[in-house]
Amino acid sequence: MTLVPGTVRPRRLRTTPALRRLVSEVRVHPADLILPMFVKETLNEPAPLDSMPGVVQHTLDSLLDAAREAVEAGVGGLMLFGIPEHKDDDGSQADDPEGILNRALTLLRDDLGDSTVIMADLCLDEFTSHGHCGVLDAHGGVDNDATLDRYASMALAQAQAGAQVLGLSGMMDGQVAACREALDLEGFTDVVVMAYSAKYASAFFGPFREAVDSELQGDRKTYQQDPANGREAMRELELDLAEGADVVMVKPGTPYLDVLAEVACESPVPVWAYQVSGEYAMVEFAAAAGAIDRERAIEESLIGFKRAGADAILTYWATEVAQGLKGGASGARS
Ligand code: PBG
Repeated sequence: MTLVPGTVRPRRLRTTPALRRLVSEVRVHPADLILPMFVKETLNEPAPLDSMPGVVQHTLDSLLDAAREAVEAGVGGLMLFGIPEHKDDDGSQADDPEGILNRALTLLRDDLGDSTVIMADLCLDEFTSHGHCGVLDAHGGVDNDATLDRYASMALAQAQAGAQVLGLSGMMDGQVAACREALDLEGFTDVVVMAYSAKYASAFFGPFREAVDSELQGDRKTYQQDPANGREAMRELELDLAEGADVVMVKPGTPYLDVLAEVACESPVPVWAYQVSGEYAMVEFAAAAGAIDRERAIEESLIGFKRAGADAILTYWATEVAQGLKGGASGARS
């Protein structure tokens, strides 16, 4: 059948802002946004990051202020990363109850209670002198099973400190099972395990290195996924689910929206996505150069995540976007 010209007009539904709002398939809500935050030991003042304009390494005091502001804006949760003064081969500060991350978790949980969801990055790279996500074997490779023992110990320290969600971002095989078992044995059956199921060896983590003062020796290609592999993400998803993951994550976001869409179709548990440091930096620097409209680019990128199927998004813009959404009557900013 030939289309009668002029009968079918998709433009009809685009004629007014109200109509466009009514027919939009997805929208971003403040509660869908999770704010990643960096807290560094021995800082007297918050330290701005050159590679992420607008993001800082926090002191404990400034962390608390920023966390309260985020909660006030209605963000869904806070994801904490800690940067210790002393890094060593085993990342010993990671599971020390007095380590900066664990102290920060307790501080926020005591102050904010259940008004938001406090999450902890569970990985060793912020804590190791060599910058790898695990401990090394005699040949300098990352030792999977020895690392699992460290992760299990971190899981307990973070749960003890008050974290409600643990973000397992190290990409070791068996990490979900190892942490779940350790938590359950100690009675932390309600602590949520969020698995970074599909995490790629990505250039877009670049600015994060500055954020956590990491000088990585080598690369992460023996444990993070090859950017070429989509099917492998489904295998990782299956394993994490079998091991008991409560939530799964795809990371980075923008270059992997196809993976996100497929995981979102298949997953029986919530699917989150991480708009990582490099994605943030690209928009900020392009906007600063006058090349793109900053606010529209931020909003469009977040809508892209939602359309691909993300239930929640970790983004460094969480507070700002949540504030904007709260202020706007429409629930969409433009
Ligand atoms: C690992 C971890 C990384 C990020 C979050 N968790 C770094 C990496 O795996 O190389 C990156 C986040 C970002 O780039 O915003 N602890």
